[in-house]
Amino acid sequence: MKYNLPKYILPALIVLAISCSTAKQDITSSTKNISSIDCKVDSLLSLMTLEEKVGQMNQYNGFWNVTGPVPKDGSAAKKYEHLKKGWVGSMLNVKGVKDVKALQKIAVEETRLGIPVIFGYDVIHGYKTISPIPLAEAASWDLEAIKKSAEIAAAESAASGLNWTFAPMVDVSRDARWGRVMEGAGEDPYLNSVIAAARVKGFQGNLGEFNLAACVKHFAGYSFAEAGKDYNTVDVSHNTLHNIILPPFKAAAEAGALTFMNSFNELDGIPATGNAYLQRDILKKDWNFQGFVVSDWGSMGEMVAHGYSKDLKQAAEQAANAGSDMDMESSGYVEHLAALVREGKVSEDKINDAVRRILRVKFELGLFDNPYKYCDEAREAATVGKKEFHEGVLDVAKKSIVLLKNNNNLLPLKKEGQRIAVIGALANDKTSPLGSWRIGADDNTAVSVLEGLNAYKGNQITYAKGADVVIGEPTFTVETKINMTDKSGFTEAVNTAKNADVVIMVLGEHGLQTGEGRSRAELGLPGVQQELLETVYKANPNIVLVLTNGRPLIIPWAAQNIPAIVEAWHLGTESGNAIAQVLYGDYNPSGKLPMCFPKAIGQLPLYYNHKSTGRPGGESPTESVFWSHYTDIDNNPVYPFGYGLSYSTFEYSNLKLSTNTFAQNGQIRVSVDVKNTSKIDGKEVVQLYIRDLIGSVTRPVKELKGFELTEIKAGEVKTVTFTIDEKTIEFYTANKKWETEAGDFKVFVGGSSITKLEAPFSYTK
Ligand code: BGC
Repeated sequence: MKYNLPKYILPALIVLAISCSTAKQDITSSTKNISSIDCKVDSLLSLMTLEEKVGQMNQYNGFWNVTGPVPKDGSAAKKYEHLKKGWVGSMLNVKGVKDVKALQKIAVEETRLGIPVIFGYDVIHGYKTISPIPLAEAASWDLEAIKKSAEIAAAESAASGLNWTFAPMVDVSRDARWGRVMEGAGEDPYLNSVIAAARVKGFQGNLGEFNLAACVKHFAGYSFAEAGKDYNTVDVSHNTLHNIILPPFKAAAEAGALTFMNSFNELDGIPATGNAYLQRDILKKDWNFQGFVVSDWGSMGEMVAHGYSKDLKQAAEQAANAGSDMDMESSGYVEHLAALVREGKVSEDKINDAVRRILRVKFELGLFDNPYKYCDEAREAATVGKKEFHEGVLDVAKKSIVLLKNNNNLLPLKKEGQRIAVIGALANDKTSPLGSWRIGADDNTAVSVLEGLNAYKGNQITYAKGADVVIGEPTFTVETKINMTDKSGFTEAVNTAKNADVVIMVLGEHGLQTGEGRSRAELGLPGVQQELLETVYKANPNIVLVLTNGRPLIIPWAAQNIPAIVEAWHLGTESGNAIAQVLYGDYNPSGKLPMCFPKAIGQLPLYYNHKSTGRPGGESPTESVFWSHYTDIDNNPVYPFGYGLSYSTFEYSNLKLSTNTFAQNGQIRVSVDVKNTSKIDGKEVVQLYIRDLIGSVTRPVKELKGFELTEIKAGEVKTVTFTIDEKTIEFYTANKKWETEAGDFKVFVGGSSITKLEAPFSYTK
């Protein structure tokens, strides 16, 4: 594509040509050859004024309607001036080829050096065609499907002018009160790590025109907000930071993620945006990360509210010195950084390092080659909403469903001759299934459960709302109001249930009850839904409860009384079709929970890979008081991590280890036989856990170290094998580094984190 070069670009190109001649590249061409890119970056950097450098470190939210008149006053006018001066390195929340192109044209054709802008957006689980929320996808344990889903999201949004997504979120989440658990892969560091890598690869691919740069977030510790309250104080140990929180970030960096986002929280008393230990020491030094770090929205400015910076200027100084390369929407850098350099408070070397990182990513994306690479209207029209994307998100949606309970094989439903009552406002909702963080998608674009069920013609389906979950139509930015009082639909629901053979109740959270700023202090079915469930149960107990929610819910009564329960999360555009196919048995569920479902709110944070404590108690009930427990409830979740049923049943046996001891560079082969004891072909997630009995720092009672999603035909026995090696057992030790320690271990294999099949092994040095 041709575009007009800005009038000052010629000298720049000459410098590039001279200094990068050894690279034998066309001077305008970007390439994935890093040394050649570095050379070009350095040449360009040498041409930049301090203000232009700082401008690259500045990111603005879309500040004016690009198709409307140019802003004349206020902050929009100022931002517009900055854009024209080349003081805007990136923008977020501008989407669609028309708008992106118009802005890029200003950056490329009207500024002195013509450096393209990088356009970021929260493509968290799809752009227009929406995939399941990330927590749901994690329940698939299907890395290929998760990667595919990220590819679809990237292809659609890249066709719409975007070139950078603020995803994946890789925060290990142990507290379901935190609303953002929906955005990650749950409570386990290993599962989060492999999924993080799959998502990064899916988004970035080979950085072609259908790919996006990934942004791994939130670095770090954000999900450990005290009491699950968003933006709250975080106080974690070094041990937890390194062994639990950081591994998924490292995995994402190793998978080639081009950018990171820091976080709102403090760590060890220092806000992440101003935290040099995280950004400089760990990420850039220890992990040798070459990409750039963007702050979270306004997080630089928030360091003032944290009580860490006296004003925005000091915040800018602290953030720049700590290695925060780009400022999202605080204006701290653009307002103060040049002055801070002149005053000697921030060295120009630090600025150069940040700008180098930003320019490098722009080169890698090919934006210097063609700043309009993502701006092809015909491609946009041909790509967004493609049929194959719908098929793709339907596939991952089915895989994300977890069957929690199925007494007397109530599921799958018979396809004919049944009177089916469908109850619950969420059954007839075409917006809620899109979930939180689907800001590119239009309301009312998901297939509802009712629509999905109605596509099957053989049964008689009657619908009753029962009760609204929320009042009005929630929006992304305003507090969602829950219906706590209106039960006027209960009678109709009861009557509908009385006349049915099977009742399908679709209950749970509205799609905008989770996500940022949406912590909850109670995790039961919101509003009057629990009462609705119990009322309908009295009229007809033959209930299939379909849960649609963005986090684990606390449902002990339902778990006890309702015969069949399906965890269907917020599954995206094809939600209703996926749910119907599972309920009718056209898809045999194989999902497993990526977070446990607690019994009571007082158990939180609750996670399977906890420490033993000095008073672990035993398996059997005890009269004694003095052990780590509650007096009013047991320690277990209702459903544990890794748990999920299928219409098939599986039996594990014959756990074998090739040897019971291994040494440096050695390994152990672990094998187990998994038999499909049913008459239905199915898939099972075979999980491998270990326990390190003694460590220089205390070790968890169990840790996931591998899994295999495997298809097993009816009656078939499959032998699944894993390898245990030094990588499996290493951890962040008392020496403050990742290493192995000699000692005794246990290995466990099974279909959930509470598997009983175990064997001992040891490692010697
Ligand atoms: C969130 C980020 C998000 C950013 C941009 C922030 O409030 O914490 O995760 O990427 O906004 O929308």
